[in-house]
Amino acid sequence: MLVTGKEILQHADDHQYAVGAFNVNNMEIIQAIAEAADELRAPVILQASQGAIKYAGVEYITALVKTTAELIDVPIALHLDHGTDFEEIIKCIRNGFTSVMIDASKHELEENIRLTKEIVRIAHSVGVSVEAELGKIGGTEDQVVVSEAEATYTDPEEAKVFAEETGVDSLAIAVGTAHGVYKGEPKVDIERIKQIDSVVKVPLVLHGSSGVPYDTLENAVGAGIRKINIDTDIRASFAGAVKSFVSENPDEIDPRKILKPARQRMADTVKEKIKVFGSDGKAWK
Ligand code: G3H
Ligand code: ZN
Repeated sequence: MLVTGKEILQHADDHQYAVGAFNVNNMEIIQAIAEAADELRAPVILQASQGAIKYAGVEYITALVKTTAELIDVPIALHLDHGTDFEEIIKCIRNGFTSVMIDASKHELEENIRLTKEIVRIAHSVGVSVEAELGKIGGTEDQVVVSEAEATYTDPEEAKVFAEETGVDSLAIAVGTAHGVYKGEPKVDIERIKQIDSVVKVPLVLHGSSGVPYDTLENAVGAGIRKINIDTDIRASFAGAVKSFVSENPDEIDPRKILKPARQRMADTVKEKIKVFGSDGKAWK
């Protein structure tokens, strides 16, 4: 069942767990997440970045996710990840996304508020939920690149003002995670999550969550994180499985045989994450 981002995160907030938001680019990734969510009875968010939409086409992504939502009996939200372009965001809304992210975090506070408010007004008028970002999350996520020096943590008081003025449904915060593969162990500021959570009413989102130790993620959920984004770990599972299959079977040319173990490995990765986030068994319809 396709639901809005707001509905899925409201349930997580009411029951104190985090929903896994997994990045999708093709059918096999979507099927892997569907298998995991269905088996564990977990609500999930399937999210596509602007890069994924450029690669697969918005119509394919939308049709695949809508089909998934008809085939499996768990709540699913279709979300645009890191929307930086006004036209791209509108395109997703028109195509049936139930949630969009406006990422205007590279701008100064006032401009971030102005751009976010504009998207909130349009998206809410057609029942689509909105996530925004405050603070700058380091690393690279498709077209969003933030160097270590540019990365800045979210200020709790600013977050309060931002959430109230924009009317967003969820807020991505910068608390020490980064997009992509970590060089060392990430240091996540759990106290800051608690402080932000105590003054911001909407659910909080953790980006750059691949490679973050599981006890840290559990603490982040305990501190108030309600949506956890995973992309890199799915890519690594996909690429690792394809590489080992091809090196063991160099003469195989059947895409089905090459991709099947990759799909299975991605499903296993997603299942592991769902259990850590505490969303297993939480599907309410
Ligand atoms: O927006 C997507 C995520 O924040 C993914 O981050 O690639 O580090 O898992 P990740
Ligand atoms: Zn992200």
